[in-house]
Amino acid sequence: MSRTVLYEPFDAGVRRTIVIEDGTITAIGRGLARPGDRVINCTDKWITPALLDIHVHLREPGQEHKEDIETGCRAAIAGGIGALCCMPNTDPLPHEPATVERILRRAHEVGRGVKVMPVGAAVRGKGSSQLSDYAALKDAGAVMISDDGFTIEDETLLTEAFQQCAEVGLPFTGHFELPGDDGLPNEPIAVERACRIAKETGARVHIAHVSTAEGAGIIMEARTDGAPVTWEICPHHFILTAEDVDRLGTLGKVAPRLKTRADADALLTRVIDGDVDALASDHAPHAEPEKAKPFDEAPPGMLGMGCMMSVSHKAIWDRVADPKAWHVARSLWTDGPWSVLGMEGPRIEIGAEARLAIFEFGDAKVRPEWIHSRSSNCPYLDMAVRAKPFMTVLGPRAWLRDSLGRLYPIESEGGWS
Ligand code: DOR
Ligand code: ZN
Repeated sequence: MSRTVLYEPFDAGVRRTIVIEDGTITAIGRGLARPGDRVINCTDKWITPALLDIHVHLREPGQEHKEDIETGCRAAIAGGIGALCCMPNTDPLPHEPATVERILRRAHEVGRGVKVMPVGAAVRGKGSSQLSDYAALKDAGAVMISDDGFTIEDETLLTEAFQQCAEVGLPFTGHFELPGDDGLPNEPIAVERACRIAKETGARVHIAHVSTAEGAGIIMEARTDGAPVTWEICPHHFILTAEDVDRLGTLGKVAPRLKTRADADALLTRVIDGDVDALASDHAPHAEPEKAKPFDEAPPGMLGMGCMMSVSHKAIWDRVADPKAWHVARSLWTDGPWSVLGMEGPRIEIGAEARLAIFEFGDAKVRPEWIHSRSSNCPYLDMAVRAKPFMTVLGPRAWLRDSLGRLYPIESEGGWS
């Protein structure tokens, strides 16, 4: 078994060589390369534990023309993402343990070492007012419960869902928007209600893809007030605004919809100030003919696990112009989301499984070759970035990216050729 030596990447600003044998980190220090080693020159590159994306739509089962577990995991690997939570708006919904088990089995077969963590469906089918059995879903391997993609509007039902989550000890993550007076989906009223019910029931509630300054403010206040609430922001809600929809067309259509510049700026401030718990992609693939429909008929959603670190880092950098940008982005794609789940993420230490990602710094533009999804509805193509994925290691498997962004495995056992 040859050793793979990641030569001198920066880890939190310190140069450290990492030696990997059989998927395990066996040495960390300076130098360390020996004749016969496979040495990857990582000088001036930056290393992080593999990222966790807690909000991903893998579309399997039922919508494999958009994405499936295999292509979704490939898209994750391309972006340095080693673990993800997949949302339950599939067909069927994972409201039965058997569907959760099927997703886990499939991920084990085709996921190339990506840790796929299913999110169980809150109800027994879209629009159903019957709750699923959360204890059974948890036993099957679900890590959260969600109504993402089929919002529960009924307050009694939502309260019962939160109660069941509190009883079984799973977080509830939701798409919190309710019809507003103007007929548009309204985030603040739904977020306020969710925070209130979280406090009443004691359920851990994770508020997905917060898109408004007001929604963020309500969450921060509720937390001060003792509500057990965590939250995430998607890069598109602090990088793009409603004005970009003219340019992007249906690529700019997403739920929650893009908001004002003031909202985006306020959310970026929450990111930099460490108020938010996690960043998440809401990777939502849709096939080209679907996105080619007129705006009102096209499905909402954007994708881009392959460029999530790059675009979020760039937005933070543009505001702070400081190496702090990398540390903020790294922590919101690693420690932050793992603590939302109440779990430990991978560590870069001797004896641990090697699950890590390396990024290269320098001016680059997001290219279609970076994306690696079955679908192509990414709004970030051509965006200038400063951090580009270079390598992903998931235990015994490792991938490098060529100058265009194409992936190639360096240990072929199961990589894409
Ligand atoms: O834009 C969105 N797309 N928001 C959601 O909540 C669901 C998602 C999807 O499944 O396409
Ligand atoms: Zn979603």
